[in-house]
Amino acid sequence: MQIPELRAGVIGTGFIGPVHIEALRRLGVQVTALSDLPERAAAVGGRLGIAEVHDDYRALVRSPNVDVVHIASPNRFHGEMSLAALHAGKHVVCEKPLAMNTRETARIVRSARASPRIFAVNYNVRFYPAVLQLRRLVQRGDLGDILHAQGSYLQDWLFKDTDYNWRLLPQEGGRLRAVADIGTHWMDTAAFILGASVQAVFADLGIHHRTRQRPLGEVETFSRTKAALSYAPYRVKTEDYAHLLLRFSNGTRASLAVSQVAAGRKNCIRLELYGSKKSAWWCSEEPDVLHFGNRDGANESAMRGTPAFGPDVAPYADYPAGHVEGFPDTFKMLFRSVYGFIAAGGNGKGERLFATAQDGHHEVAICEAILRSQQTRAWVQV
Ligand SMILES: NC(=O)c1ccc[n+]([C@@H]2O[C@H](COP(=O)([O-])OP(=O)(O)OC[C@H]3O[C@@H](n4cnc5c(N)ncnc54)[C@H](O)[C@@H]3O)[C@@H](O)[C@H]2O)c1
Repeated sequence: MQIPELRAGVIGTGFIGPVHIEALRRLGVQVTALSDLPERAAAVGGRLGIAEVHDDYRALVRSPNVDVVHIASPNRFHGEMSLAALHAGKHVVCEKPLAMNTRETARIVRSARASPRIFAVNYNVRFYPAVLQLRRLVQRGDLGDILHAQGSYLQDWLFKDTDYNWRLLPQEGGRLRAVADIGTHWMDTAAFILGASVQAVFADLGIHHRTRQRPLGEVETFSRTKAALSYAPYRVKTEDYAHLLLRFSNGTRASLAVSQVAAGRKNCIRLELYGSKKSAWWCSEEPDVLHFGNRDGANESAMRGTPAFGPDVAPYADYPAGHVEGFPDTFKMLFRSVYGFIAAGGNGKGERLFATAQDGHHEVAICEAILRSQQTRAWVQV
């Protein structure tokens, strides 16, 4: 089977659902169906040229025209939608976080294990070519033993007390917000590069706006609210920012800063690795470039698509050097990896690079350990 023979259905078409649809179409995958709330579904279907529109996701997962279900709805629906799609015999690509708590994610892991289908969690940062290259360099020992890692994931779209999104409500987004929403991207990426998992955490979480103003009417992710709207105050229970200490299973120690109230940082993920031979660092604001630090001699940089970058990640980069690949391309490359596995009959060629249900479950387990650490002011094992 070839990738373009597979047919996708997408649940949730707010901010990230259309990113999935665009990336799938760039791979030649047919997007045959979508599902959203009754007040949105038909209009979005018309705009995106998708004829099969469902206002109930259960109809989409049962559709005979869908092989792979993409779940891009708010977090609280991920658990039931993942289980329903697996039950209907579909492959699944679920957005992160995998579900609201480890009770739900453990059920998904069991169901995915019992299914012959592929289940992927959409940790797309893994698919920046620079991240794939860093992973290769660590595997080859080019940096030596990784002594410690450092980094951040910073945004500013919730900077004002009038900035609003469903993520601010624990019943919609979960009991952790900034850490679950973007911190888990960093932790998943670091674990992927290191080939090790986070085993213990020490957390310090902060809330900037204890009371926020909720606009009357729904607001889409990353949209700016208009001054003319009227608001209702509400208490905030989830963190705007966090500082985390992490211990990985291979002994690497890391510190991570996460914020959704860092003015001027729109969507900045940064990762630095300090090895016994040399250092390496990367930032999504300059996605095609890897930097290396040397104790003696000059520091170096390598650009994607040039010999300095190496041939290993070539299947996950489509454009020549200097033609920058970024956020939307990571979705295309993740889906190339997942759909390649499916097309090959579930065995896949080469390594499985995408995050599994087990990986998604582990990220939610880390989040629960971080909450316990915040409450007990102590190190907590994951
Ligand atoms: N991987 C990434 O980089 C990335 C980026 C952004 C969001 N996400 C994840 O994607 C998910 C969606 O986030 P978003 O920012 O697109 O949110 P959003 O609010 O912009 O969009 C959510 C969409 O889901 C729809 N929806 C709500 N309930 C539904 C239901 N019961 N059935 C079908 N559709 C329903 C909404 O109407 C809306 O169109 C979240 O889990 C988020 O964590 C991942």
